[in-house]
Amino acid sequence: MKCDVLTLFPDILTACLDESILKRAREKELLEVNLCNIRDFTTDTHRTVDDSPFGGGAGMVFKPEPIFRAMDFLGEDGEPRKVVLLSPQGRPFNQSMAEEYAREEKRFVFICGRYEGIDERVKALVDEEVSIGDYVMTGGELAALVIIDAVTRLIPGVLGDERSIENESFSWGVLDYPHYTRPREYRGMNVPQVLLSGDHEKIWCWRRKEALRKTREVRPDLIEKTGLSEIDKKILAELSSEENG
Ligand code: ADE
Repeated sequence: MKCDVLTLFPDILTACLDESILKRAREKELLEVNLCNIRDFTTDTHRTVDDSPFGGGAGMVFKPEPIFRAMDFLGEDGEPRKVVLLSPQGRPFNQSMAEEYAREEKRFVFICGRYEGIDERVKALVDEEVSIGDYVMTGGELAALVIIDAVTRLIPGVLGDERSIENESFSWGVLDYPHYTRPREYRGMNVPQVLLSGDHEKIWCWRRKEALRKTREVRPDLIEKTGLSEIDKKILAELSSEENG
């Protein structure tokens, strides 16, 4: 995946891109990130990127010109890109969007907003406005990083073991099951016996049951959305009867 990130604070992204899996993905050339400082596309001596809103009101608005100029510059190579604007008003980002981005799009531009908002005319450049959740951050940089991270780890070759993606939270449509490693006993807490049994079918059932238990407790909305298999319905009924008696 190749992406350009338009931002006023490239260092926010550098810190994360230079660590761990994102760093390795860049070294393996599976991820390429070009950080583009919007201030470099201003033309006045004060390098102004914001102005007060027409119609009045508190706060400042991101001016359109530096963003349009930055996009003109990036567009010079003629390569098609999907342009994503990060904002709390966008389509909520989730795992299926991460999968869609990893599958279909090769090249992205992420525009990170700041201030109270961005001049509406910038939307003429944008293919999709995306939010990472129902809260307001100081800017879109962390949101761009969240998306880059979630998409990059789905690119084949980025993670060591692709099986870990197949089994993880959300790809089952529910939350992840509990994990244990050595030691078998720690401070009086034991690893569940079934995980030591070597019986793969029993282990699968236990994991599915624990995943459903957790999901029902903290994200019942996911269970409604996912649509349960007959086995899941049986497991949920078992959970309820265990609780009721
Ligand atoms: N910028 C500020 N808050 C945001 C959010 N929740 N998602 C995406 N971009 C943002």
